[in-house]
Amino acid sequence: MPSLFQPVEFGALTLSNRIVMAPLTRARSNREAIPNALMAEYYAQRAGAGLIISEATGISREGLGWPNAPGLWAEEQVEGWKPVTEAVHGAGGKIVAQLWHMGRLVHPDLGGGQPVSASPTTAPDYAHTYEGKKPYVEAREATKQDIKRIVGDYAAAAKDAIAAGFDGVQVHGANGYLVDQFLRDSSNFRADEYGGSIENRLRFPTEVLEAVGGAIGMDRVGIRFSPNIYSQGVEDSDPIPLFAALAQRLEELRVPWIELREAHQPTSAGAVPTEPVSPAMRPLYSGKIALNSDYDGPSARARMAEGIADAISFGRPFISNPDLVERLRAGAPLAPGDLATFYSGGASGYVDYPTMDEAEAA
Ligand SMILES: Cc1cc2nc3c(=O)[nH]c(=O)nc-3n(C[C@H](O)[C@H](O)[C@H](O)COP(=O)(O)O)c2cc1C
Repeated sequence: MPSLFQPVEFGALTLSNRIVMAPLTRARSNREAIPNALMAEYYAQRAGAGLIISEATGISREGLGWPNAPGLWAEEQVEGWKPVTEAVHGAGGKIVAQLWHMGRLVHPDLGGGQPVSASPTTAPDYAHTYEGKKPYVEAREATKQDIKRIVGDYAAAAKDAIAAGFDGVQVHGANGYLVDQFLRDSSNFRADEYGGSIENRLRFPTEVLEAVGGAIGMDRVGIRFSPNIYSQGVEDSDPIPLFAALAQRLEELRVPWIELREAHQPTSAGAVPTEPVSPAMRPLYSGKIALNSDYDGPSARARMAEGIADAISFGRPFISNPDLVERLRAGAPLAPGDLATFYSGGASGYVDYPTMDEAEAA
């Protein structure tokens, strides 16, 4: 079995190790969703990862409902990302952009109109807005024209990602956002060819992947799912057959890598995970699989040894351990993160976590 420290190919990308930085929204952009120099510093500090997956990045104004999250639909955003990707490359790393449409989770205050989703549904809980939390509003069912436009937005954002210097993209298909809203039977009640059967529920993600692959080459495309957790009101009554069919589809499409947020314990949101889907997907999909959620060094090694994962992605550990790869190599303890600064804006709790050497010197 390969170790975490051996190289691996994710399509066109050769990763120098199998420790992936999971996508982490950190809300440090401005209201126009433009990235900045602070973000370049943050990502460059974490360039030891075999691959950095960027924080979720809006493909359109309509699709972005998180205050101070970045985007990839305007020229200024592309320009803002360039120093970020240059800094990561300068530090020897690789970075892909996570492409995000939040669907029904976009509040009109941010998206500018009634949100779209697979079906007219309302997400549970509260939306984040610049004026604090507000109840979600009911989404309208995406028309065929909406679907065509949104698929086009994904492709345009993927092209913008390459123009901004990213090594590729990851389609955000996880956590109850638009792709997930189409995929699952708790949020997709459509009667047309985009809803109902598994085959129909795969149609939207398939069209997105075909468009993005067509725009930048499928060898630079990955996708993320969260198959076995309830997330923001989205789940499935029968995940195993759905994700087995999805694995076959990803194989046909030649998507070179996927990331699964496959929880093994209750999530921080309290959702209890159902059976893992990766054992059912592995025999049907020959691309690379990165597994995520709640790993540390020993549990990551143990999971790699089971032969399903080609890589392990780490989220929270990368927030508070910029040199996570070196710490895992040394078997050193991991520093805890400060939840209060996860989304707070500013440098504090963002670029000031020390490396092992800096901590020792202090
Ligand atoms: C602060 C924070 C921001 C996150 N932002 C994103 C995101 O932008 N996109 C995404 O797919 N998942 C996001 N997640 C989920 C993480 O990628 C990851 O799945 C989760 O933290 C579990 O992995 P871990 O146990 O290694 O932290 C976020 C999680 C946290 C804690």
